[in-house]
Amino acid sequence: MTTLFSELNPPPRLLMGPGPVGVDPRVLRAMSMPMLGQFDPAFTAYMNEMMELLRQLYRTRNKWSLLVDGTARAGVEAILVSIISPGDKVLVPSFGRFGFLLAEIAKRCGGEVVTIEREWGTVFTPEEIEAAIRQHQPRVLAVVHGDTSTTMAQPLDRIGAICRKYDVLLYTDATASLGGMDVAIDAWQVDAASSGLQKCLSGPPGSSPITLNDRIVDVVKRRRHVEAGIRPANFVDGDGPVIQSNYFDLGMLMDYWSEMRLNHHTEATSMLYAAREAVRIVLAEGLDECFARHRLASEAMTGGLTEMGLKLFGDQANKMPNVTGVYIPDGVNGDAVRGMMLNDFGIEIGTSFGPLHGKIWRIGTMGYVCRKESVLTCLAALEVCLRQAGFRAGSGTDAALAVYRAAESPAQTAKAS
Ligand SMILES: Cc1ncc(COP(=O)(O)O)c(C=O)c1O
Repeated sequence: MTTLFSELNPPPRLLMGPGPVGVDPRVLRAMSMPMLGQFDPAFTAYMNEMMELLRQLYRTRNKWSLLVDGTARAGVEAILVSIISPGDKVLVPSFGRFGFLLAEIAKRCGGEVVTIEREWGTVFTPEEIEAAIRQHQPRVLAVVHGDTSTTMAQPLDRIGAICRKYDVLLYTDATASLGGMDVAIDAWQVDAASSGLQKCLSGPPGSSPITLNDRIVDVVKRRRHVEAGIRPANFVDGDGPVIQSNYFDLGMLMDYWSEMRLNHHTEATSMLYAAREAVRIVLAEGLDECFARHRLASEAMTGGLTEMGLKLFGDQANKMPNVTGVYIPDGVNGDAVRGMMLNDFGIEIGTSFGPLHGKIWRIGTMGYVCRKESVLTCLAALEVCLRQAGFRAGSGTDAALAVYRAAESPAQTAKAS
């Protein structure tokens, strides 16, 4: 007997967690465009356009700015497996769950991994990172830029110069930050970075934009190898160890994204359409305008939560603007409040991991949901849920509205007060 389920009809949700978030309808529309063959000139032109869009988003001149098919960790793995040879020393300054992920992946690549840790809710000073580099002399420094598990962003503007001084390759995971705050690859001298679509880029999970500079490309070229069947005559392998993954071999991915168009995997057509539209939308808004929108939402969200009588989590000076950690008040069941937010209001807010589990909620204001209506709706619903849970919440929604009103017409607000 055939088992048939009902037609797919997901309930409408306002996704105010740390990602995935609501997808911009223009991105959904782009995903429904017709398939093209992967060597159709129209499609390869889209691939080239994608590279140019990514250069602008990452603020880099890196030729090799492209997509890895898969969720954000596909980009992490592609970069780490392609630059770490077995036995290479890798330093991971970890300040949250995703630092552990980098260490875990680097170990699987055969790296000799040294992790230094900060208490969750804080970040490293450049001096701490430099001291660890001096002590451990790694070949690669792998660090998360914005760690959604703690809501913190590690400032990177001085780390690149430190890495150059000691001839260390710098990789950063910008999954949570790209599109929501500045990620200035060239100015910060970051050698490689990766991201995902499902956070500040307002796309679905499933495509990972990466960028690589010449220092990375040199390493990859030394490990170059092309699989049999597509290997050009006279091709000479690099003299370094073969990259231990076929799917994530950046050398082969570069051959595919280059003028050679050497076939590797079949590019995920609809995901490329999604990524192209997602990045195009951010650039059309303007990077500075987009970052300002995220900062304003953060100001309104943190102002609203504080006015409600809640306590914010972590070092606020280093908090990402796109996600806010807030302590669950004493005596309130965090999961019950989240359940009520979802079931009664259709709003998702985030739980948390590891040492923060059961202690904080994480509320995202990322990408398409980073808007006044979403912030106010989420706060209004949270106020009700907290009251139902026995907590006397102050009027955070009014406070958040005041932040938006002040930003909309600063002169008028000044006169009224
Ligand atoms: C900073 C960071 N890195 C990596 C990931 C992993 O991303 P994905 O689940 O898309 O593979 C996430 C997901 O939340 C993240 O926030």
